[in-house]
Amino acid sequence: MTASHAPGPPVSGSYPQSFVSSPATICASRRRIAGDAVRHARDFCRERFPDGPGFANGSRMTDLSRTLAATADRITIALDAVLPRPQGPEARLFSAMRYAALGGGKRLRPFLTLEAGRLFEADETALLRTACAIECVQTYSLVHDDLPCMDDDDLRRGQPTTHKAYDEATALLAGDALLTFAFELLADPQTHPDPKMRCLLVTGLAKAAGPTGMVAGQMIDMAPSAEDGAGDDLVTITRMNRLKTGALIGFAVEAGCLLGAASDEARQALARYAQDIGMAFQMVDDLLDVEASAEELGKGAGKDAAAGKVNFVTVLGADGARARVRMLADQAKAHLAVFGPRAAVLAALVDYIVERRR
Ligand code: IPE
Ligand code: IPE
Ligand code: MG
Ligand code: MG
Ligand code: MG
Repeated sequence: MTASHAPGPPVSGSYPQSFVSSPATICASRRRIAGDAVRHARDFCRERFPDGPGFANGSRMTDLSRTLAATADRITIALDAVLPRPQGPEARLFSAMRYAALGGGKRLRPFLTLEAGRLFEADETALLRTACAIECVQTYSLVHDDLPCMDDDDLRRGQPTTHKAYDEATALLAGDALLTFAFELLADPQTHPDPKMRCLLVTGLAKAAGPTGMVAGQMIDMAPSAEDGAGDDLVTITRMNRLKTGALIGFAVEAGCLLGAASDEARQALARYAQDIGMAFQMVDDLLDVEASAEELGKGAGKDAAAGKVNFVTVLGADGARARVRMLADQAKAHLAVFGPRAAVLAALVDYIVERRR
């Protein structure tokens, strides 16, 4: 692998030391965090999409999207506070980690952890730190997913992919560092005073992210032929997506349940909800790859077909995939019935997942 050693956007400025959530601080912090990284992204997008902003979601702000945006800001600020600042000879690594993690993203998985945990009045700091750990894993998975040896993408979250902004070696290492940092966060007593709880969180995230979860799904996705384990039947695609996307979404919900000491009945209901939205989420991702533009998505469009990927759309057809998404959405909401109106936000999130354009 040849590293081009592009300079990458400098990341500088002073950062908040603790988790904060006042709106004024969020706005100020977002501007500061964004700083040079966002200017860099904006230049890139202007050049690439002269007719549009490229990474602004122009849709009307609904109550849920406002809540999602506020949570995304909260996660960005929390990540900003915990991620290492660029300094010393390894500054480039820290800068790339921050570039990937602070640059954007819907923060859907952290949102699920926070909302699931709130159903059981879990401690907010524990939820927030756990949500940050999960988002570090999500970010790492995208940094690696975009590498030339995987999906070879140059746009992510509305900005150049990490290996484009920096170089391949730095992106690889930034991904490694985000993954391992996630476990450091979870193992820290600041996340939870009870070592047994920390151990449950660490184990749960490892299982969801590793060889029994996301990485296994990514391997199946990369397999070039049926001989290597890939197949184009619905059973194989369903299993692949349960692993590559469903496992982390499932753990995001499960973590909220763990931290809230939810009953077995509640955990089961939410696990089923997570399974349905995880599947629907990836189906919509596959549909959007065909139907949406790079401007809307903030990432490359039409990539799956160009790479000859087998996914829900190639197996079910677009109409078939849409019909299945609707069925899964109804089913996901039905699993929430046991919580009544307390789960209204999680129910609204189902519609967001179905209707999203990004
Ligand atoms: C992208 O996930 C990868 C998939 C599992 C389809 P998201 O669409 O949640 O990406 P971000 O985190 O918002 O960028
Ligand atoms: C990747 O799926 C899911 C991960 C585990 C990273 P995709 O390759 O379809 O995700 P996008 O479309 O690049 O976001
Ligand atoms: Mg991929
Ligand atoms: Mg990809
Ligand atoms: Mg995709």
